[in-house]
Amino acid sequence: MNGQPQNSQLALLGGKKTIKKEFARYNPLGLEEVEAAKKVVESGVLSGFLGRWHPDFFGGPKVQEFERMCETYFGVKHAVTVNSWTSGLVAAVGAIGIEPGDEVIVSPWTMSATATAILHWNAIPVFADIEPETFCLDPASVERNITPYTKAILSVDIAGHSADMDALLGIAKRHNLKIISDTAQAPMATYKGRYAGTLADIGGFSLNYHKHIHTGEGGILVTNDDEFADRLRLIRNHAEVVVEEKGVANISNMIGYNFRLGEIECAIGIEQLKKLKTQVKSRQHIAQKLNKGLADLKGLTVPIVKPNCTHAYYVYTMKINSEITGVDRLTIHKALLAEGVTALAIKYENIHLLPMYQKKIAYGTKGFPWSSDICRRNVNYAKGICPVAEEMNDRYFLGFGICSFEYSDSDIDLVIKAFHKVWDNLIQLKQPFLERCT
Ligand SMILES: Cc1ncc(COP(=O)(O)O)c(C=O)c1O
Repeated sequence: MNGQPQNSQLALLGGKKTIKKEFARYNPLGLEEVEAAKKVVESGVLSGFLGRWHPDFFGGPKVQEFERMCETYFGVKHAVTVNSWTSGLVAAVGAIGIEPGDEVIVSPWTMSATATAILHWNAIPVFADIEPETFCLDPASVERNITPYTKAILSVDIAGHSADMDALLGIAKRHNLKIISDTAQAPMATYKGRYAGTLADIGGFSLNYHKHIHTGEGGILVTNDDEFADRLRLIRNHAEVVVEEKGVANISNMIGYNFRLGEIECAIGIEQLKKLKTQVKSRQHIAQKLNKGLADLKGLTVPIVKPNCTHAYYVYTMKINSEITGVDRLTIHKALLAEGVTALAIKYENIHLLPMYQKKIAYGTKGFPWSSDICRRNVNYAKGICPVAEEMNDRYFLGFGICSFEYSDSDIDLVIKAFHKVWDNLIQLKQPFLERCT
């Protein structure tokens, strides 16, 4: 077509695909996990928990071993395992003593569970904007969104990079707020030498099967606060029947659940934690190769790592400036997919735009909690409140899921080659698309 040599003809327009192979699913599990799980099954005890004030209230031997190991690993006083990080977030918001109607400032650029954990306690999510470089909460926007009703900040260390914790902790101190870190995607990322998630009042990690390490489903809460740790363990395990015998004075939010992680998952978690460093290092190696290989593509920005931070690279967050490429982002995305670059996304969540917030329908049909007296002002979720997060989705974002597949060095060379092929041939994409395909 158009006299182009065949090897420069974009696959989208009928040329040869750069990457013909299918990548294997990312898999951090091995024989160690099989053996560990087998031993638990052979023991016949798959959970040691009892929902009563009893030595078994804290769970079985593997739960205990995994929690103590996480405490040492992340350098925190307490680690509390949960059956998902969604459960962990719910427990964290309850543990800090949230009141119905309290406002919690949260990022819109996250997985939906971050914000629903707030609603769960009939508190009100207030969305602040993100920084364009890290996609984490922008402290200036957080400060602008503080009202007399603000109780906490729920910060997200998104894609593998820590939020600006010094700034957020400073805001929290000045306004007497609590901070929860959702570090689901950034285990082992560091901020000024400390692990992301461990600087907040409560933080934690997801162990779902998409993450760097996993137990199928699961989560780990971390805190250095004895009282919060106690309350997290209570909410995890039927608090309401335990508080009396345990002698708990503060029974607010002691509505307990079964958020308990099983023995098999914890036995697998122990083996997985031993591999976390290697798994994160391998993702960092991929990112460094990509950084080098994609650096000269005009109009493409590769992820930044802020000074004094390290990145865990759950997602490799790029930006495309169509004014520079001369081709819109969606067309470039299609061209890259056609070349065989999988695990590419052009959108992440803008949580505030979900129907639940747009229509303010969560519990029942009458707008609770926003329509009730506990909500003391009209909280705005209209498009436009988070311009950076919205622009990133609408115009700039291109994410590559480093944790989605297993990539060898030569696989990443192919990915880089595919990007270069598309960029070298952007001219082919400039003419009207349909015209070119006919
Ligand atoms: C940022 C973020 N928060 C919360 C969650 C929820 O974690 P889980 O799936 O373990 O419940 C996820 C999971 O993908 C996440 O990425």
